[in-house]
Amino acid sequence: MSSIFLLIFSLALLIITLSPIPNFASASLEEANALLKWKASLQIQNNSLVSSWLPMNSTTPAPCTSWFGVVCNDDGSIHRLNLTSSGLNGTLQEFPFSLLHNLTHFELSVNTFFGPIPPEIQLLSKLVYLDFSANRFSGVIPPEIGKLAGLKTLHLFENNLTGSIPQEIGQLTSLYELALYDNSLQGVLPPSKAKFEKLDLSLS
Ligand SMILES: *[C@@H]1O[C@H](CO)[C@@H](O)[C@H](O)[C@H]1NC(C)=O
Ligand SMILES: *[C@@H]1O[C@H](CO)[C@@H](O)[C@H](O)[C@H]1NC(C)=O
Ligand SMILES: *[C@@H]1O[C@H](CO)[C@@H](O)[C@H](O)[C@H]1NC(C)=O
Ligand SMILES: *[C@@H]1O[C@H](CO)[C@@H](O)[C@H](O)[C@H]1NC(C)=O
Ligand SMILES: *[C@@H]1O[C@H](CO)[C@@H](O)[C@H](O)[C@H]1NC(C)=O
Ligand SMILES: *[C@@H]1O[C@H](CO)[C@@H](O)[C@H](O)[C@H]1NC(C)=O
Repeated sequence: MSSIFLLIFSLALLIITLSPIPNFASASLEEANALLKWKASLQIQNNSLVSSWLPMNSTTPAPCTSWFGVVCNDDGSIHRLNLTSSGLNGTLQEFPFSLLHNLTHFELSVNTFFGPIPPEIQLLSKLVYLDFSANRFSGVIPPEIGKLAGLKTLHLFENNLTGSIPQEIGQLTSLYELALYDNSLQGVLPPSKAKFEKLDLSLS
């Protein structure tokens, strides 16, 4: 008899544990609020973004399920941000690098972002895919990018980046797609142990 109770109890516990409790309130509330601050610094042409990224209350879209370009992990933490071709104009100055450290995919291609790529990019330590191509980023490629050990794809082509390719990029052994063409970069690709599948530097 008691073993049946134990079984029922265990099953109940299992069901409670497995049910999709919407825990975004705890994990990504902070992340979402930080993204809202960044949003406030941008000029935005994409209506889907304007109408889904809203201060949270019971009636507004939940970040993890309904925010344009946002994908969360099972713990309700934002791990993908894809804002490609969204008519965004602005900088990364207000971007919450320190909060979004669970990001694995970060894509801002085909917008008009300008200004530097901040060294704080190194705080996104889980980054696998980084695509800032076809914008107006300027300044140097921050050497700190070399600390993103898991990076597989790095697309910075069609920007206004200057200087030489930082030696630190040679430390990225997982990198297999590196595209830097259509910038004003100089020099050579630093020594690297990466096994590139696609490599397009077009250096002067
Ligand atoms: C990042 O993800 C981990 C595990 O999924 C989680 O514990 C942590 O709270 C997340 N970080 C933030 C800032 O949400
Ligand atoms: C917003 O971006 C998405 C994806 O790029 C696109 O499908 C949609 O048409 C855009 N909406 C506007 C109003 O620009
Ligand atoms: C929820 O937020 C939206 C957008 O900011 C606002 O228009 C609406 O009045 C808010 N609703 C409640 C119940 O606070
Ligand atoms: C990002 O979104 C664009 C347009 O919605 C899509 O074509 C692209 O494959 C997405 N990128 C990733 C890495 O999922
Ligand atoms: C982007 O914003 C900057 C600064 O507000 C402005 O000077 C520039 O004209 C804008 N670019 C576009 C394409 O709207
Ligand atoms: C690129 O940067 C240079 C030097 O800072 C500047 O003169 C030029 O106008 C920029 N080009 C674009 C397309 O932003």
